[in-house]
Amino acid sequence: METLPDLIVIFAVTERLTLRSFTRDDVEPFFAYRNDPAVARYQGWEVPYSLQQATDFMVALETSKPGMPGEWYQIAFEHTESGKLIGDCAFQTRPCGIQAQVGYTLARSYHQQGFGSEGVGGLIEYLFSTLNMHRLSAYCDTRNEPSWRLLQKIGFRLEGHYVDNYRDRGEWASEYHYAMLQREWQAKQAQ
Ligand SMILES: CC(C)(COP(=O)(O)OP(=O)(O)OC[C@H]1O[C@@H](n2cnc3c(N)ncnc32)[C@H](O)[C@@H]1OP(=O)(O)O)[C@@H](O)C(=O)NCCC(=O)NCCS
Repeated sequence: METLPDLIVIFAVTERLTLRSFTRDDVEPFFAYRNDPAVARYQGWEVPYSLQQATDFMVALETSKPGMPGEWYQIAFEHTESGKLIGDCAFQTRPCGIQAQVGYTLARSYHQQGFGSEGVGGLIEYLFSTLNMHRLSAYCDTRNEPSWRLLQKIGFRLEGHYVDNYRDRGEWASEYHYAMLQREWQAKQAQ
């Protein structure tokens, strides 16, 4: 039986990255970085993360649509020059439809080279300019310094410090809550 080629949607293009929809060809690299304990440390999934879990995730993504109230949508970070999948970002649209929470992940060999802030910057531009979101938020563990530094670097404002508000490996852990408004992003772009 002949299979149809994947329809790839491009959400944003940055200097080095193409933010696009996932395809089944992404399963192997996606599995590899999700199964890295250093990458998963402050994330919502457990390691070991299996190839089957990665495959199931990709299949579920085929029917998901961006901007559906209450739902998460996952976007691939493709390194444009090499064509490699190097990470991803996601956003959960709130029930009102014009606010969202964002998340992001990068394969370890691409950390600390500016790819995270570049990719999340592309996501923010898509959410504010294309989906016309009013407000974006992000949560991170206070010990996850690369994550809160990334948020600060691209213009998120610290709005809250939630002390001992979730259990992490049997211990209490704290979170920072960051947010950014569309007008704050536009003002930053105009600078
Ligand atoms: C969070 C993450 C995406 C950051 O990506 P990155 O490409 O390394 O980040 P950038 O290179 O764009 O750097 C962003 C800022 O973080 C800082 N930073 C990055 N790694 C750091 C580290 N290990 N220690 C301290 N600061 C760090 C950078 O210096 C930069 O800040 P500055 O320019 O103001 O100095 C990456 O570390 C990651 O994928 N981590 C695992 C997944 C994760 O925890 N996701 C977030 C869940 S809330």
